[in-house]
Amino acid sequence: MVTNPIPQFPAGFLWGVSTSAHQIEGAADAREPSVWDVFTAEPGRVKDGSTAAVACDHYHRYREDVALLADLGVDAYRFSVSWPRVNSPGGLDFYDRLVDELCAAGVRPVVTLFHWDLPVTLDWLERDTASRFADYASAVAGRLGDRVAKWITLNEPAEHTLLGHALGAHAPGRRLMFDALPVAHHQLLAHGLAVRALRAAGAGDIGIANSHGPTWPASATPEDMAAAEFYDVLLNRLFSDPLLLGRYPEGIGELMAKSPEDVATDLKVIAEPVDWYGINYYAPTRVGAPQGEEIAFGGLSLPSELPFSVREIEGRPVTDFGWPVVPEALTELLTGFRERYGDRLPPVVVTENGCSCEGVEDRERIAYLDGHIRALHRAVEAGVDVRGYFVWSLLDNFEWAEGYARRFGLVHVDYTTLERTPKASYGWLRDLLRARR
Ligand code: FCB
Repeated sequence: MVTNPIPQFPAGFLWGVSTSAHQIEGAADAREPSVWDVFTAEPGRVKDGSTAAVACDHYHRYREDVALLADLGVDAYRFSVSWPRVNSPGGLDFYDRLVDELCAAGVRPVVTLFHWDLPVTLDWLERDTASRFADYASAVAGRLGDRVAKWITLNEPAEHTLLGHALGAHAPGRRLMFDALPVAHHQLLAHGLAVRALRAAGAGDIGIANSHGPTWPASATPEDMAAAEFYDVLLNRLFSDPLLLGRYPEGIGELMAKSPEDVATDLKVIAEPVDWYGINYYAPTRVGAPQGEEIAFGGLSLPSELPFSVREIEGRPVTDFGWPVVPEALTELLTGFRERYGDRLPPVVVTENGCSCEGVEDRERIAYLDGHIRALHRAVEAGVDVRGYFVWSLLDNFEWAEGYARRFGLVHVDYTTLERTPKASYGWLRDLLRARR
């Protein structure tokens, strides 16, 4: 059991929890379909064959969920707006009500504009989707901008590109391998255009949420080192270098230069300064040279033709998802970011961190969060300007291709009755937040 008090974070540090629209809202009949609705309807795509048509029914139960947030005592709540819902009559009214409810409860709304549920009529392979995204961002800001505390343009464009378009494990289920790179570029362009559109609509405090984690080479052989370097570029630099330095990493830059698009001009839009940079962290990855066979990795099956292979991190507890629990890698990640980007790195917010485990007496989750919050504090002590920490997630929810089999919530959801039951970790976090005051 955890006994030492968590050290104090700087004044104004924002404590929050995160969710996303497709994973919790349900009410699929009150919006246009998204690429995820199409994907989940295809047999074999989602492990337990489930869909998010009802999910946690947050759309109808948001008042109860906001009461849970208020009781938990978080400063902020990160949720996403569903673009397909906004495209549907009355769609923005729901978010208007939610934001009002949050403000009345003293919880600051943090809005993600895109958390993977693209309207089915759109496609990230098309450049025009970037402009459509900026129009959508303006519409949301026009309606909610007076009450939203922070904006996030995109959630994890790296995972969305890799899982959705390169490997086919997520919607829209394409297996394009490196031909998926235009999807990365168009999302980055969408981000830059949306930053401008949000500012033009009077919105401020704008960031992005990217997934990152240290890459550890399997050994010091040149083959393993080169493979790890390549993986690191894909996960840790493909999006942050253009955003923060205004250029693509070497190698990727050459691939992009072959595209018919004016990448150099686009990079000026992409590098529009953000007010803060969001990092979603779960685990580090050990990477070595390709081993010539299809391998299982965190619920995924990675094709053998990739120029790297993912290896096990031994000697660590693993979550239900099979992800190793390595809190100190969060300190390494954040101090490494500070070293790489120096003064180009704006203040950082950890926009997601958490683990999947079963049960309401979730001691593993408490240990996970405790370890990671301490690791975060060490990064602050080392001089990284970290302004907030958001737990993934408030509720158990629809975990994409894993369906309802993975439970990340501080609050248990019974998917038959939709009853919410706060877990031990919810009580632990509430006590932590109260002690801080
Ligand atoms: C992140 C996603 C989030 C959730 C967690 C477990 O990659 O942003 O929606 O699925 O993983």
